[in-house]
Amino acid sequence: EKGGFASFMDKEIHDQPQAVADTLLGRFDPAGNLQLSEMNIDESLLKSIDKIVVIACGTAAYAGQVARYAIEHWCRIPTEVELAHEFRYRDPVVNEKTLVVAVSQSGETMDTLMAVRHAREQGAKVIAICNTYGSTIPRESDGVLYTHAGPEIAVASTKAFLSQVVACYLLGLYLAQLRGNKFRDEIQVILNELQTIPEKIERILTEIKPRVGEFAREHQDEQSVLFLGRHVGYPVAMEGALKLKELAYIHAEGFAAGELKHGPIALIDSGQMVFIVVPSSRGRDSLHAKVVSNIQEVRARGANTVVIAEEGDTEVEQYASEVFYVPQTFTLLAPLLTTVPLQIFAMDLATAKGLDVDQPRNLAKSVTVE
Ligand code: BG6
Repeated sequence: EKGGFASFMDKEIHDQPQAVADTLLGRFDPAGNLQLSEMNIDESLLKSIDKIVVIACGTAAYAGQVARYAIEHWCRIPTEVELAHEFRYRDPVVNEKTLVVAVSQSGETMDTLMAVRHAREQGAKVIAICNTYGSTIPRESDGVLYTHAGPEIAVASTKAFLSQVVACYLLGLYLAQLRGNKFRDEIQVILNELQTIPEKIERILTEIKPRVGEFAREHQDEQSVLFLGRHVGYPVAMEGALKLKELAYIHAEGFAAGELKHGPIALIDSGQMVFIVVPSSRGRDSLHAKVVSNIQEVRARGANTVVIAEEGDTEVEQYASEVFYVPQTFTLLAPLLTTVPLQIFAMDLATAKGLDVDQPRNLAKSVTVE
């Protein structure tokens, strides 16, 4: 069943181009517009919502964080992301004009389910983004957008995460389309770019994966690893840290790169490994320069800087101990690529330590208690 791979996780990492492609499949009408009627929520209602709240746990919550950047930018609808178990018990402000998006691979996570029930009791409409047909969360939601990642066996999520991110993009673009936002042409351009992502992931798997693996094996004695990212690179950094904790039992933390100077920089001393997820240098904004100066700052304090950057971004090389380049894409879509080397790093390092990457200690694939 592992299809010749060493682990389910290895197989599932290789399934990712297909998982992304399949999640995009069948969502378009003949004119090429997005068609998400499976969501089963009245269009007029979707036009009238004034807030979106994404609720999820674990890796799914990082998919939600990526969604916030995309949905707010494309739709101009205020969007919050919250861990389901925190949302449920803080008396959140939700009502008929709130769209709650519950992201769950299994559809059985009790924390997320309780948050869904609470949101519906307050009158909110709930859409589930889920990978498991007929599971509880979609059944108890108003509508569902299925991710088509196929069964995910390894406990720590990889391909389900990427397909959740894709589903969130589709939801955001659909809402933008529905609400007649100005940038209709831009929607098509983004959808076209999304179609190129599977091939770009494939390139990471063939061209970069062996080098990341070798690098991971050389660093199997690492005691602590930090991950920095900004904008959509921030949830990617958090996810990179989570994967390393889950699989390799190494202390790891993700930070917003801009927060570095407000505290975490005190952690940096000689030899500290720091991954930095660098945004595109082709954007109009100055994020790239800011993150590059973060690399410089930690490097100046002796950090071992491991940079994930876009192909062609040679500027990072002068401050990087190691660079892993991923193919170019739009800034908001970059998590579909920059996450992959971090997954591979965690898996290969854990494997080098002799750990079971499919069944990490103390973890369950789906947690059905609160
Ligand atoms: C955790 C799993 O318990 O639940 C994680 O170990 C997962 O891998 C999280 O991300 C959320 O699960 P689900 O099924 O709701 O996406």
